[in-house]
Amino acid sequence: MISETRLGLNNLIYPFFMEDGTGIQSPIKSLPGLYRWSLDLLLAEIGECMELGLRNFVLFPAVDEGLKDKMATYSWSEDNYYLEAIRQIKTRFPEACLMSDVAMDPYSSDGHDGIVEDGIIVNDPTLDVLCRMSVAQAQAGIDILGPSDMMDGRVGAIRRAVDGAGFTDVSIMSYTAKYASAYYGPFRDALDSAPKSGDKKTYQMDPANKTEALREAMLDEEEGADFLMVKPALCYLDVIHLLKESSTLPIAAYNVSGEYAMLKAACANGWLDYNRAMPEMLLSIRRAGADAILTYFAKDYAELTN
Ligand code: PBG
Repeated sequence: MISETRLGLNNLIYPFFMEDGTGIQSPIKSLPGLYRWSLDLLLAEIGECMELGLRNFVLFPAVDEGLKDKMATYSWSEDNYYLEAIRQIKTRFPEACLMSDVAMDPYSSDGHDGIVEDGIIVNDPTLDVLCRMSVAQAQAGIDILGPSDMMDGRVGAIRRAVDGAGFTDVSIMSYTAKYASAYYGPFRDALDSAPKSGDKKTYQMDPANKTEALREAMLDEEEGADFLMVKPALCYLDVIHLLKESSTLPIAAYNVSGEYAMLKAACANGWLDYNRAMPEMLLSIRRAGADAILTYFAKDYAELTN
């Protein structure tokens, strides 16, 4: 009766890693219990998740090294398997809410989220690539575009591009306050998407900064974002709280791969009780102010609470 915070399955967004091919469900070493899926098996997995009551999913593509280039051209190419996957999942499960990843890194031979020229990430030319990718994903039927790249001005540019192409109903969940964090390590293993040189500190945020998150939020709001996201979640609960208090937009938080990995590892060693520690972690993110939580725990949480 007096519980102040409730966490339902409708608050959760479940991420999936994909690769091209058939019959693939390959385990990810640093993310125990998670896999890289080919579309055929992923469709069955999504069906199972929907039965459990999960409805929201975000898809991340692993791309063959041979298809990567400096301009991430495969991201909008006609025969991109990821776009085909969006099409097929939406056809099979029209009531599922599907979110994409908009960023160059899975497709980039430099492993960066932007175009690299002489060792520098060039912001404005990158916007064109992000817009082409976004329009291609909108054409494939995506519900929510998820720009995770942190280039300045990309929310507005993407909004104009997809509206111009006639996709006014597609929403944008902006990775608003995405920090240059060590907790993305297992994700980069999962997709082989780590930067080939340098780091992401010229475009992702300094973990020391909080006011900057507000500035990013104001810009994203002005540019037309439909949701604001904070990432990672656990070390940044104060930032989630701040954005929730300062904006009327829905706030999302990304409970990232490193957060999943560290809890799983402690539980595998018998040092923490998974069925208590995992829901407590999710609840704390929700209590901090997140309306939606992107989390690799979604299926376990659904099974635990069903
Ligand atoms: C890249 C991207 C990253 C994540 C989501 N999109 C990694 C990065 O910025 O290097 C991380 C997610 C996670 O760690 O779970 N565009």
